[in-house]
Amino acid sequence: MTISTGRAALIAAAAITALSAASTLLAHGNVTPQAVDTSALPDLAGGNETWLTENPYANAAPEVKAKAAQIGESAYGQNCARCHGLEAISGGIAPDLRYLELGPSGDEWFVERFQHGSSHDGKVYMPPFGEVLGQKAGWAIRTWLETQHTDE
Ligand code: HEC
Repeated sequence: MTISTGRAALIAAAAITALSAASTLLAHGNVTPQAVDTSALPDLAGGNETWLTENPYANAAPEVKAKAAQIGESAYGQNCARCHGLEAISGGIAPDLRYLELGPSGDEWFVERFQHGSSHDGKVYMPPFGEVLGQKAGWAIRTWLETQHTDE
């Protein structure tokens, strides 16, 4: 075996691994929200009762913000990716969340949807997540989503 076929085999193996990881996620049709461990994040003033309309982690200390983004990325993968796409790149089923406005105006719309989901004409387009995941998880996801933002 030459060096180049060895490399090709390696690349093919890596591609297969990546592909099966993606299809496992996409095939994951479980609609039960997956609990998010937010204990590493500071508690919010209003607890889970009073929902904020602006991301409390946006201007937090860098290490808190980084932790929020890290927790948010994983929470997104478990709860949102099956509709909104891996890495927030939508495959067309649901809006592409990379285009959400940055800052307070985007926060308000984000948290409205996160809390209540979206239903019309008796059909649930997006389930509500507010009560099951809690607002710390919501803002952690929002913090990560802002790192994926694009205008293009
Ligand atoms: C079952 C599929 C599904 C899941 C799971 C889901 N969403 Fe959605 N989401 C949708 C659909 C469909 C819409 C568009 C609803 C509409 O326009 O009425 C939407 C809309 C949104 C919007 C508004 C986007 C815009 O541009 O108006 C946000 C923000 C959002 N979702 C966040 C999330 C987050 C965060 C999660 C995970 C915690 C999540 N969604 C999980 C289907 C889903």
